[in-house]
Amino acid sequence: MSLGSSKPPFNLPEGFRLIEVTDTSRQFQTGDSRIDSYTLNDYFRWSTFPHNYVILYEWEGDIAGVIHMIVYSDYIFIEIVARNRSSRATGVGTKLISLIEGIARQLGKSRILLHSLDTTVEWYKKLGFRIRAPPRRNTEFGILTPMEKILE
Ligand SMILES: CC(C)(COP(=O)(O)OP(=O)(O)OC[C@H]1O[C@@H](n2cnc3c(N)ncnc32)[C@H](O)[C@@H]1OP(=O)(O)O)[C@@H](O)C(=O)NCCC(=O)NCCS
Repeated sequence: MSLGSSKPPFNLPEGFRLIEVTDTSRQFQTGDSRIDSYTLNDYFRWSTFPHNYVILYEWEGDIAGVIHMIVYSDYIFIEIVARNRSSRATGVGTKLISLIEGIARQLGKSRILLHSLDTTVEWYKKLGFRIRAPPRRNTEFGILTPMEKILE
């Protein structure tokens, strides 16, 4: 089983790194209660599953953002992207999505898929995602909209 900190099959730019067990005691809150029901402990646990990666963006000593992705044979699926509301970093979510696009290119994947919360569909559209299938209701997160971005 992966311990979540073994070398990934892609390079990470400066400022980004894989989550480590020591991160689980650090503070991270987005302000969205659906997302904040998960802690860095959960993110670390997910990072130990095969093909799952949790990447942190650090800024001024804080964890400014976190993204959890799963690498499938022909696409990358983004499970969660989240920004720490107490960080002073700007453009965090955008940086994390661009990071995944860079990773997809390194791995030769041309599609990024995700299920958006009702509150983030417009944000993902701004970043070049489009709606892929009708929204559906999820007991935990409310309405989720399948979206995708095809990389040029
Ligand atoms: C969604 C989220 C990751 C966005 O991160 P962020 O760092 O605030 O976003 P950015 O600063 O990169 O956004 C870029 C632009 O989109 C806008 N934007 C941010 N959130 C938005 C939203 N929910 N809807 C529409 N536009 C949004 C920003 O105002 C900014 O606009 P500008 O370029 O005109 O200044 C962050 O708000 C968050 O963590 N939300 C809670 C968790 C969540 O919902 N995650 C997504 C589903 S898993």
